[in-house]
Amino acid sequence: MSDNQVDRCLCWEVPFAFIREQVEAGALSSFEEIQDAFGCGTGCGMCAPYIRKMLYIYETEGRWQTTFQPGEAEEFEDPW
Ligand code: FES
Repeated sequence: MSDNQVDRCLCWEVPFAFIREQVEAGALSSFEEIQDAFGCGTGCGMCAPYIRKMLYIYETEGRWQTTFQPGEAEEFEDPW
């Protein structure tokens, strides 16, 4: 993984792959449930668009972006 890659919520040290496992197992199904379970998105919030994207396309790695284009982070709303 390169320096600008991200594969986890850095504030709470929760890997996106672990979250995906929980989703695939049926334990969690929405971003709000992930927030409640692990705190992801409740710290700096930078992981939120990546988790939303992971819920949508099951991708567990991405490049850190310091900014998103308008609407880009909201593009991946919970599919459920
Ligand atoms: Fe997940 Fe900060 S990186 S809340």
